[in-house]
Amino acid sequence: MNSKQPPFRGLLFKIKQSRMSAIARSKVKDLLEMKAGENVLAKGWVRTKRGNKEIAFIALNDGSTIKNIQIVVNKNENTEPILARISTGACIAVEGRLVESVGSGQNVEIQAEKVTVYGECDPMRYPLQKKDTSFEYLRSVAHMRPRTNTFGAVLRLRSQMAYAIHNYFHNKGFTYLNTPLITASDCEGAGQMFQVTTLNLNNVPKNKKGEPDFSKDFFGKQTSLTVSGQLEGELGATALGEIYTFGPTFRAENSNTPRHLAEFWMIEPEMAFYDINDNMNLAEDFIKHLVKYALENCWDDVKFLNDRYDNELIDRLRSVTETDFVRLEYTEGIKILEEAINKGVQFEYPVYWGVDLQSEHERYLVEKHFRKPVILTGYPKEIKAFYMKQDEGGKTVRAMDVLFPKIGEIIGGSERESDLGKLEARIDELGMSRKNLEWYIDTRRFGSCPHSGFGLGFERLLLFITGMQNIRDVIPFPRTPKNAEY
Ligand code: 4AD
Ligand code: MG
Repeated sequence: MNSKQPPFRGLLFKIKQSRMSAIARSKVKDLLEMKAGENVLAKGWVRTKRGNKEIAFIALNDGSTIKNIQIVVNKNENTEPILARISTGACIAVEGRLVESVGSGQNVEIQAEKVTVYGECDPMRYPLQKKDTSFEYLRSVAHMRPRTNTFGAVLRLRSQMAYAIHNYFHNKGFTYLNTPLITASDCEGAGQMFQVTTLNLNNVPKNKKGEPDFSKDFFGKQTSLTVSGQLEGELGATALGEIYTFGPTFRAENSNTPRHLAEFWMIEPEMAFYDINDNMNLAEDFIKHLVKYALENCWDDVKFLNDRYDNELIDRLRSVTETDFVRLEYTEGIKILEEAINKGVQFEYPVYWGVDLQSEHERYLVEKHFRKPVILTGYPKEIKAFYMKQDEGGKTVRAMDVLFPKIGEIIGGSERESDLGKLEARIDELGMSRKNLEWYIDTRRFGSCPHSGFGLGFERLLLFITGMQNIRDVIPFPRTPKNAEY
């Protein structure tokens, strides 16, 4: 360093030492932006260690960025015993000088002066040391996979997107409403709910009919984990005007697909005085905003995923922000699919008016026919939930599904039935219990208003933004049939 050593070298060294120990820890993300010359302290986990007889190079990552900082350690009798304890996965602290870097691919690196080992990592037993880095394997060690580059990128993106969502709605003046996770009503009417009970399953109290007596249960009635916060969301919207929920939802459907989780997160805005067109406009603007946010604020992670797994990812993200989504009636959609079949396209599931579209049909419309996102509306009322506004003629409802390339349905929503008589008739028609829904029906009894809303599946959004293929790889600890580890 200095060619001329200053006098009182010993003293200066001590001062330097005491200054060094007072250095605050910097995150790797910040270190990589700093100018060479400063004394710094970094803490993190070792990604790799390599080197030669004189020098060791350690790539250190602390989760603040996809990038590592390179640590350079001169080998001597003092450092060798410490270096011997350091291997991939170990946790260390490094004090040293930030210097310009020649070969690490970054502008700066740390010339180490003091290295502390917080936790060693046995290379023989460390689960991420294995050659097998397939997503299947990583799912089997999901408690460790956040330490990989890929899951670091995905989890940072997940967090950034959550922030962007709150930001979007707050800027629009929406109120964030917390809806209950334990509920006595089935919003979607599909009955795929997880029961919540404190009854002793080995000795369930029975009523006169021999059925479980839920009056003895914790809540005095049968309860489940919610499949959606929408019904309570409507209570909020018809008082506060515009609300959104953002929380976990639960579905006990036995679907082992790359797009279904038993526990997933949903964002559900609900807006008074919005009709179906306002609803579609909001959904389109919302998704475009989120995709743009990822491109503008999470570039390193998006770029990493693009370069590593899917080099069309960035193009796909950009094209969604730039294009107008197609708006298509269900009936028109069926015609397009039928024409495709006539031209020789083969689907596994049948196509006819009235059918609930499968993901293969949705993806045909989006990926082959229009080559852009499609908002499908005007669905047959038989395949949609009881609360959707009925069109004149009574055959279709003002539902809207937003269909995305690679994903299929990313958003489901509708204008809501605001007419008391029609809503009650539909509940009865479907054989649902009005008794459990009186509180909901009250919104139509007292100051009913036109209103609309939708639900965005957070993990489906993340599938699109990360380009990951399997929904289990965009949530830290996935819950799927026969899988509830950690
Ligand atoms: O279409 P869904 O069932 O709509 C509702 O729950 C309405 N209550 C929403 C509303 O209008 N407020 O679900 C909404 C979205 C789907 O489009 C999909 O993105 C996601 O939630 N989703 C799932 N994501 C992961 N795993 C599952 N099992 C999912 N089921 C639905
Ligand atoms: Mg749906």
